[in-house]
Amino acid sequence: MDTRPIGVFDSGVGGLTVVKQMIKTMPNENIIYFGDTARVPYGTKSQKAVTKFSKQIVRFLLTKEVKAVVIACNTASSNSLEELQQTFEIPIFGVVKSGVEEAIDSTKNKKIGIIGTTATIRSKAYERLIAQSDHTIKVYAKSCPLFVSLVEEGWTENTVTKLTAENYLKELIEKGIDSLVLGCTHYPLLKKCIGETVGENIKLVDPAKATAKMIKTFLTEKKMLQKKDNIAKHFFYISDATDTFDIMCKKALKKEYIPEIIDIESY
Ligand code: DGL
Repeated sequence: MDTRPIGVFDSGVGGLTVVKQMIKTMPNENIIYFGDTARVPYGTKSQKAVTKFSKQIVRFLLTKEVKAVVIACNTASSNSLEELQQTFEIPIFGVVKSGVEEAIDSTKNKKIGIIGTTATIRSKAYERLIAQSDHTIKVYAKSCPLFVSLVEEGWTENTVTKLTAENYLKELIEKGIDSLVLGCTHYPLLKKCIGETVGENIKLVDPAKATAKMIKTFLTEKKMLQKKDNIAKHFFYISDATDTFDIMCKKALKKEYIPEIIDIESY
């Protein structure tokens, strides 16, 4: 048994979609969440910058004595996971591997679409891992950078978002994919809009559930799960004040939380 919290981070509100699944899967675990609202989006930045930001965040989470870190961000997972694992001694998990496993399970016609930020698509992390498992699968990747700003703005359901989705997703629909990986943790907040755009014949794959399951399996095997009667505490930190973090938090987690602002540059 290990009573320490689990650290989770993202560039902003996207990682809340992973927290939601973690709470469902591990209701007794304490969670410390950090959203880098001062420096979002990560998806348009270089690998060097994303890795530097991620290291600062892990250092901050370590001051909260976390037992493991979940990179609830595809951009940081696909660009910085290995370096973080080499730098820090605690277990660190990304979201890409579970997304790949889910997508391979989901596809019947072996045509998978991946949408993500520019930095995630540039890394080719999904293509690499899918090819390692099954090289006969065709992968069509498309970056959808505007989606993150729309979510951070709270515009999850409006005409601009719908038109943006139609524009981005048209070419993937034309490729005949049967599964579409939401390769950015912000995108599940647009699930309704993306689902309506691609139609019901294309299955949306959200890596969050599988990621939460993978962490639970790890903690169980290592005997690091929290006490079964623990009443979980969840704390939220951000790097700059926003008008929308609280709103999106309530939308994703169905509960109100007041985030604390910290100076992440000092870590
Ligand atoms: N939600 C993150 C991801 O999964 C980052 C989005 C961004 O900051 O550009 O990639």
